[in-house]
Amino acid sequence: MAVTTSIHGMWSSRLAFILAATGSAVGLGNVWRFPYTTGEYGGGAFVLVYLLCVAGIGIPIMMAEVMLGRRGRQSPINTMRMLAKAEGRHPAWQLLGWMGIVAGFLILSFYSVVAGWTLAYVFRAAGGAFTGASAESIAAQFGTFIGDPERLLAWHTIFMVMCVLVVARGVASGLERSVRVLMPALFVLLFILVAYSATNGYFAQALEYMFRPDFSKLGTAGVLSAMGQAFFSLSLGMGAIMIYGSYLSSQASIGRNVVIIAGMDTLVAILAGLAIFPIVFASGLTPQLGSGMVFKVLPIAFGQMAFGQVFGTLFFVLLVFAAWTSAISLLEPVVAWLVENRGFSRVRASVLAGIAAWLLGILSLLSLNVWSGVTVFGLGFMDLFEFVAANVLLPLGGLLIAVFAGWVLSRAASTDELDTGRKAYAIWRFLVRYLAPVAVAVVLASAVGLLKALGLE
Ligand code: TRP
Repeated sequence: MAVTTSIHGMWSSRLAFILAATGSAVGLGNVWRFPYTTGEYGGGAFVLVYLLCVAGIGIPIMMAEVMLGRRGRQSPINTMRMLAKAEGRHPAWQLLGWMGIVAGFLILSFYSVVAGWTLAYVFRAAGGAFTGASAESIAAQFGTFIGDPERLLAWHTIFMVMCVLVVARGVASGLERSVRVLMPALFVLLFILVAYSATNGYFAQALEYMFRPDFSKLGTAGVLSAMGQAFFSLSLGMGAIMIYGSYLSSQASIGRNVVIIAGMDTLVAILAGLAIFPIVFASGLTPQLGSGMVFKVLPIAFGQMAFGQVFGTLFFVLLVFAAWTSAISLLEPVVAWLVENRGFSRVRASVLAGIAAWLLGILSLLSLNVWSGVTVFGLGFMDLFEFVAANVLLPLGGLLIAVFAGWVLSRAASTDELDTGRKAYAIWRFLVRYLAPVAVAVVLASAVGLLKALGLE
């Protein structure tokens, strides 16, 4: 019989789950990572592949993840062990949970560093640092900032403490209210920014850049990166959505909720692109601005628009909140596991996990300045962690989740969880059994081929 509650607590309502999962999905991935990776791979073709991945791979895998979590009602490791046992399969399926923990630490470590940039930029915007500044001086400001390890460390530390505080108290309390108010506020502000960019930037050029696919610039690396971005942005493949699903009541409809969450996440990413690219072109910049893109581009607009100081401050505040509600979902799976298997208190588990991610984050932070010469496979630590987590571990985790939900879990179990219509169920089952695993496997395999060709293997 299905377990109906989790020892870690439950969402107070269906809305609470939607808010929490949207809070997890919408974050730096949409506003910071989507625009800069789009710029790296030439625009339209990348966006198209990303959208296809969200619809054909991301949504069915997100449904699978919520479903598995709700059936297991434990941390991803124990959920996978229990479900595999219930289906008479090998306990090795729990390795999926372990892989998720590794991915979670890698992501949280650099995520907190970038969230720290966002925190710092709240104060810069408020202090009027961008008012009337040229694109060059804004880029120079950013360069000086990330060149200073002590500053980065201070902000990274503050952000990690913020995350530990929330997770220690339990994800449900506090989260609901902040997402309910702040997420709509972020939407409104993004709309204002898009309106500004539409009237003051090169909007037509940006639209063409984002929506006219030019596949010559994409390549295997671009396809891999677009797929990785879909996983990253939807918080898939490492157990975050699984654990959030484990706190969801057995009555809620998984399909409908997942479509809403994925839709909102995608909308925020597109809006962020529409806010940023018109300014990129109007300022005579190229889209290959790298991971500093948002911090180099939006301040130009804040420096020129009416009430720019107010909008700029508000924007970075909201981005901090979006990052915060995402980061806590990266910490939750490992904390739940420490509570279940090690008998730790929530507080102790959160502090320990936070310290581990914080230490790992220092590697990322130093790779931006002091250790900029230290590379592994040609990448500094931050780029390496980002690449391995987003483009390898998350897709691999997602692939295994799809295979488990489509092939291992009995049909009776998945029909029971997904009380969608017959047609919707049939589509989901096809996607999760065939399309998603095959597509992910093909992309990963061709990426390995690419590495071989580069002689890196
Ligand atoms: N989706 C978040 C963002 O876009 C980041 C994130 C939170 C995440 N939890 C995750 C990414 C789990 C991958 C897996 O900012």
